[in-house]
Amino acid sequence: MLTIRKANRDDAFDAWDIRKTSVHAACAEHYPRAALSAWVDGSPGDKWVSVVERYFYVAVDRGSVVGTGMLTLASGQVDAIFVRPSHMGRGIGRKMLDSLQALAAEHGLDAMRLDATLNAVPFYRNCGWSGDSVSTYRTARGLELACVPMTKLVIVGG
Ligand SMILES: CC(C)(COP(=O)(O)OP(=O)(O)OC[C@H]1O[C@@H](n2cnc3c(N)ncnc32)[C@H](O)[C@@H]1OP(=O)(O)O)[C@@H](O)C(=O)NCCC(=O)NCCS
Repeated sequence: MLTIRKANRDDAFDAWDIRKTSVHAACAEHYPRAALSAWVDGSPGDKWVSVVERYFYVAVDRGSVVGTGMLTLASGQVDAIFVRPSHMGRGIGRKMLDSLQALAAEHGLDAMRLDATLNAVPFYRNCGWSGDSVSTYRTARGLELACVPMTKLVIVGG
């Protein structure tokens, strides 16, 4: 059974690995391989561990962490929606978004926003998100990637 829970610092390595493997598996048709490597390769540092511990949620399937997500309550910004390649296409990304939406509703947010990688736009649309203009996403390492800013209204109970 799939559960979604708040992450802790022991999840930091899994979260890093899921981000790296999912991006290489699913984004390669839309971005140069070197850009993806510059974005997600390497090893997690202390800052990553601290962000995971403070803000991440993880999807857990039979004891294994298989997906991640994060919501910044101050802004409604959703980040880090990544699913382990072996578990893509099983509804885990949708469940993570539903869970973050429930959290947003609990905290009285009216809307959520995110910057979608080009490969993930149809997934977000399928999950009720809107937006179609291409913009630029700047990663923590200063890399610029094409993205589509998207929004979703927070409907309580919806
Ligand atoms: C994008 C991603 C998070 C989707 O997660 P997932 O668990 O595989 O998606 P789900 O199984 O929950 O899909 C939910 C719905 O979206 C649809 N969907 C998923 N990916 C899709 C795609 N690329 N194109 C069209 N529809 C898609 C599914 O068919 C499903 O539809 P249904 O509920 O009507 O059957 C996952 O593929 C991933 O980690 N990608 C790489 C990292 C990435 O790009 N993350 C986004 C960063 S902004």
